[in-house]
Amino acid sequence: MKVIQVKHAQEGGKQAFAQLKEAMDKGITTLGLATGSTPVTLYQEMVTSALDFSHLTSVNLDEYVGLSGENPQSYRYFMNEHLFNKKPFKETFVPNGQAKDLDEECARYNDIIAQHPIDLQVLGIGRNGHIGFNEPGTSFDVQTHVVALTDSTIEANKRYFDSIEEVPTHALSMGIASILKSKQIILMAFGKEKAAAVAKMIEGPVTEQLPASVLQMHPNVIVIVDEQAASELTK
Ligand code: GLP
Repeated sequence: MKVIQVKHAQEGGKQAFAQLKEAMDKGITTLGLATGSTPVTLYQEMVTSALDFSHLTSVNLDEYVGLSGENPQSYRYFMNEHLFNKKPFKETFVPNGQAKDLDEECARYNDIIAQHPIDLQVLGIGRNGHIGFNEPGTSFDVQTHVVALTDSTIEANKRYFDSIEEVPTHALSMGIASILKSKQIILMAFGKEKAAAVAKMIEGPVTEQLPASVLQMHPNVIVIVDEQAASELTK
């Protein structure tokens, strides 16, 4: 893992954008994208850049079960608002949280990932070390799956909803096995509340109890952290 420390999220977005640009110069075709507040500065850089993304395909990590793409809290809506409406892509994929048969939707999404191998995957990290919505205890071998969100994740994500009761209890998430197949991964983490998870991810044992620790086994990972998120690193 290569760790890049930046002053703040804004600079983190610029760093991630520089990495993306380098990968695009090498001819990548498929981006794995993430939601949450963390990648927003990267998406701002992309939107204000002169770069054209209309030849790229994107495959998003996850979506809440039960929310339609028109719901402002859905991840499809988030992606449209922050990136796709402003910078067109060739094709964009987000799991369908409203699919009648969720197992079928997981299989469909696995096919999409298989047809569009991810060149560069963007990741945030949950306070409990989750990536995508792969919560602690998730097998490293799973592909797209239905997830029961932990109380810690529901609590952390309630800030986007009017009340905690409105936060969906389940999500569809790309699995860790799929994430690991990405050729390159950029994980960003900003803020004090990510410090413990970041330290365990980089310096702790590889364990399913801290899903992001699996990234230690991937050959091409760049971690971009601000000073606060790096504050519990010892090395
Ligand atoms: C959600 C998303 C993750 C994201 C995490 C952290 O649970 N499923 O992909 O990394 O939240 O979010 P934030 O970046 O807002 O801290």
